[in-house]
Formats: sequence, structure tokens, C-alpha cells
Amino acid sequence: MRRSDFPELTRRIGDQPLTYLDSAATSLMPTPVLKVLQAFYATNYANVHRSVSTLGYEATNRYEEARQQVARWLHAGSDEIIFTAGCTDSLNLVAATWGRQHLHAGDEVVVSIMEHHSSLLPWQQLALQVGAKLRFIQLTPAGTLDLEQARTLFNAHTKVLVLTQVSNVLGCENPVGQLAKWAHAVGAIAVIDGAQAVPHLAVNVAALDCDFYAFSGHKLLAPTGIGVLYGKRVLLQQLPPYRYGGEMIADVSCETASWADGVQKFEAGTPNIIGAIGLAAALTYLTKIGWQRIWQHDQVLLQDLATRLAAIPGVTLYGSGPRYGVISFNLAGVHPHDLATVLDQLGVEVRAGHHCAEPLVHALGTESTVRASVFLYNDQTDCDRLISGIKTAKEFFHVT
Ligand SMILES: Cc1ncc(COP(=O)(O)O)c(C=O)c1O
Repeated sequence: MRRSDFPELTRRIGDQPLTYLDSAATSLMPTPVLKVLQAFYATNYANVHRSVSTLGYEATNRYEEARQQVARWLHAGSDEIIFTAGCTDSLNLVAATWGRQHLHAGDEVVVSIMEHHSSLLPWQQLALQVGAKLRFIQLTPAGTLDLEQARTLFNAHTKVLVLTQVSNVLGCENPVGQLAKWAHAVGAIAVIDGAQAVPHLAVNVAALDCDFYAFSGHKLLAPTGIGVLYGKRVLLQQLPPYRYGGEMIADVSCETASWADGVQKFEAGTPNIIGAIGLAAALTYLTKIGWQRIWQHDQVLLQDLATRLAAIPGVTLYGSGPRYGVISFNLAGVHPHDLATVLDQLGVEVRAGHHCAEPLVHALGTESTVRASVFLYNDQTDCDRLISGIKTAKEFFHVT
């Protein structure tokens, strides 16, 4: 689908054509997004929220239109959308503001064993500092979240549920709405990591009824360095600033300061203007194609990969379908980094390691996996090249 829109796919790795199966790390950028970025740099480049000049006014409009577009897409208000440096930054913002205000000694944080370190560590470290406790939702033998066990974790001490919507290792979708209900029933909030969900699912934060929702632009065709934090209006109004600096104040004296209304309170300094505009362009591009079509396309490739990988002797697949975007596996007798290196020499780009989800990878009984991730520009040839590359690696390493 739309391969010709992605110029990077025409490059070669050594003398091999490129098969890019690492979109869960960072997705490629299509020409329509590149053109928007280039045009903005060439004709509109100026700072936002500061200047009465025409250029400043135009840049501010574009930046705020991008915010409105993200808000419409997520089914939120534009006063609920904070632009950040990425998903990691968004998740740290919540722990550093809401968490610092509300988490105290003896409180509990319910967190899934599937969390990316960006989602786990802000709460783990805050809990250590204030004397709160993390309680982990574990896996079933099928590699899904154990909902029966999860239910027992919520109680009067629970202050926060921290949950990834789609696992960056297993690719499974977690029942965010259900778990958020359990959190709310005990007076806790739900903080959702949407980094791997937004490229593959139509997300509606109002329907999920989560309190905070975080993601990065670079996993859905936008530049790096831009992210989003959705927060419920009523919660954002009560939060202190995250960082201090220009354009986030109402008044400043030598002794004290007061803060701007709305989301500007959280956007100190010059924001990533071009990133926000690139994110809006990426959303326009993806929305035109349609999330349902993208999802169906990805499903066909992932199901094909799951079947063909499982048929290779020595391959262990992690998790079970349906998967969103990613599939993780290991090949007996070959270290994941060695397999990824051989694949790279064949032009097939995958990721190997613990995927910044060490607790999960350990719960799966391993130290690392190989992860192939697909997006709208992948096709059957990419799957064929991965499968044939694994067979080549088996011969190379003399494993049967
Ligand atoms: C599930 C998940 N959460 C959070 C992140 C962190 O995103 P970023 O590095 O863009 O801040 C990632 C990145 O891989 C991820 O997969």
C-alpha cells in the first residue's frame, strides 16, 4: 500500500534492497509529509505565541491548527492536548505533576508487566521516592494480561493505573476501557501509553475514558521530537507546571510568578513547531487512507508472518494474535542480535533486544527477542525476505 510515497524504501543496504520491518521503533516518512515540512521551513518558519508579525501569526495559526487536528482525531478538546517532546516526555510529565501531587507513602500504583520503560520508570522512581508501592498485572500462559489477577489489585490504596494499550513486544491490545473502569471504581486515574496503538488503531480517548493518554509522532509517519499528552480538562486545570520558562506564565515578578491558562502552562520555551505541523500532515495522510484499511493490511501481513514463522523449526513466537504492528520471536541456538545482524546484511531491518521492556521479556522467560514490525508500506515481499533471511541465518549458524 502506497510504497511509492516513501522515498527511503528505494535506498539499498549494501547491495541489497531495503525491507524495513522496524516501524515500531520509528516509522518512515511519506513524501506528502516531507513536502509540508519543506514548505514550512521555506516559507513560514517563525516562532509561535510571541510575535505580532505576519510570519509569527501564521506560524502560531499552523501550530494551533495542528493541536485542533490532534484533538479532533483523538475525540478530545484542543485544551486537553499538550505538545511534548515524545511519549517518554508525556509520561514523565504526568508522574512529575499529577504523581508528585497525589502519590504518597502507602499508596499503590497498578502497572502492567508489559510496560515500556518509559511508562514504568517514572512511576517506579516516584514510588521509591515517596514510599508508594507498584503492583504488577501479570501474564497468562497465552501471553495476555491476566485480568482475573488484575481485578484483585485494585483497592482503596490504588491511586493510578499505568497501562500500555498495545505492547511493543507482543503486539496485543489490552482492554484499556475495562481496566480504566476498575481504576475509577476505587478513585484512581488511568494513564495510558498509546505509543504502539496510535499507528494501528482508531483511538477515542472519550470512549476509553482514560485520564491521560500519551504517544509519539515518529511512530506514525511524523518527525521525531514531537509527542502528545492528552489529559482530561479538569485534571489539567489542577496540575502545576512541568517546566518553567518563556510563554507559560501569566505574570512574573522578582519574587513570584503565576501561570498561563490552559495547556500553554505545560509548554515552556519554544515548542517543536515543525514537529507539530509534521504530525498534523501525517494524520491527514493516514486519515485519507483510513485506519480500518491500514489495520486490515497490517493484519494480513502479521498473520502470514505468524504462520510462516511458527512453521520454521526452532522458532518460538511470543504472545498470540491478533497482533497490532509487531511480532516477536526467537530462533533456538542463535542470539537475537546475531540473527538481526545477518538479516541486516540481507537488507532486512528488524530490532533485537529487550525492546525497553525488560520486566516483560524476563516474564516471557528470555533475555531478548527479535521483533519484526509492519506498517502500511510493507508488503508480501517484505515477509518473504524475512522468512528467507531466517532460513539463510539457520544455515549460516548451522542450526537445524
Ligand atoms: C509502548 C511504548 N511506549 C513508549 C515508548 C517511548 O516512545 P519515545 O521513545 O518516542 O518517547 C515506546 C517506544 O518505542 C513504546 O514502544
